[in-house]
Amino acid sequence: LIKGFVFDLDGVITDTARFHYQAWKKVAHDELGIDINPAVNEKLKGVSRMDSLNVILKFGGKENAYTDTEKREFATEKNDLYKSLIKQMTPADILPGISNFLQAITKAGYPMSLASASRNAPFIIERLELGEYFAAIVDPATLSKGKPDPEIFEKAADLIHSPYADTVGLEDAVAGIEGIQRAGMFAVGVGKPEVLGKADILFPDTAHLDLAKIEAAFAEKRK
Ligand code: G6P
Ligand code: MG
Repeated sequence: LIKGFVFDLDGVITDTARFHYQAWKKVAHDELGIDINPAVNEKLKGVSRMDSLNVILKFGGKENAYTDTEKREFATEKNDLYKSLIKQMTPADILPGISNFLQAITKAGYPMSLASASRNAPFIIERLELGEYFAAIVDPATLSKGKPDPEIFEKAADLIHSPYADTVGLEDAVAGIEGIQRAGMFAVGVGKPEVLGKADILFPDTAHLDLAKIEAAFAEKRK
């Protein structure tokens, strides 16, 4: 039986993926002379701030062009830009269907925690006024490895005392689906089959999320 849910934030609960992209696109263009595209953006999803910068530098063939100090400056510039984009967020920015879905999970009695690699996650949850739903938020500063490593999902499940095999994880990123499955959890994907084909169950968007379907698919897989 399902004992708990661990949630990704960016791209699942709210569409901050477009703000991350917007901020990186500008910094990459202005500071690095690299023009990123949606395919590169897909690789930034779920990936920490510094690792995202490294993905962009690799894409632009500039892996060794900058010192660590310069790289920290670019990452800070991106984050300042990102923070200016998210500071106006309100509950209206919760993705369609998510509020109902969180209510249904709460009503069914499953605890929830947040497994986001973003250091801005607590701020966003506060802006969206969703704090009451999440018993815990993993602090990404405590992690030794990022997604696709399972560590963040394991910590999130530990915080709500949910055994990994009984935990459901939700993700919009390839790296996230891989991390959930490597933790031995059941992976719910939100997005396109071309990208998230490995998920245990896939919904095209958040409006289609359905707790009963997840419970049925979970029971089927654990049979
Ligand atoms: C999430 C997003 C990534 C982002 C990461 C770090 O995982 O999907 O795109 O790079 O968080 O976010 P931060 O807010 O700490 O820069
Ligand atoms: Mg995400």
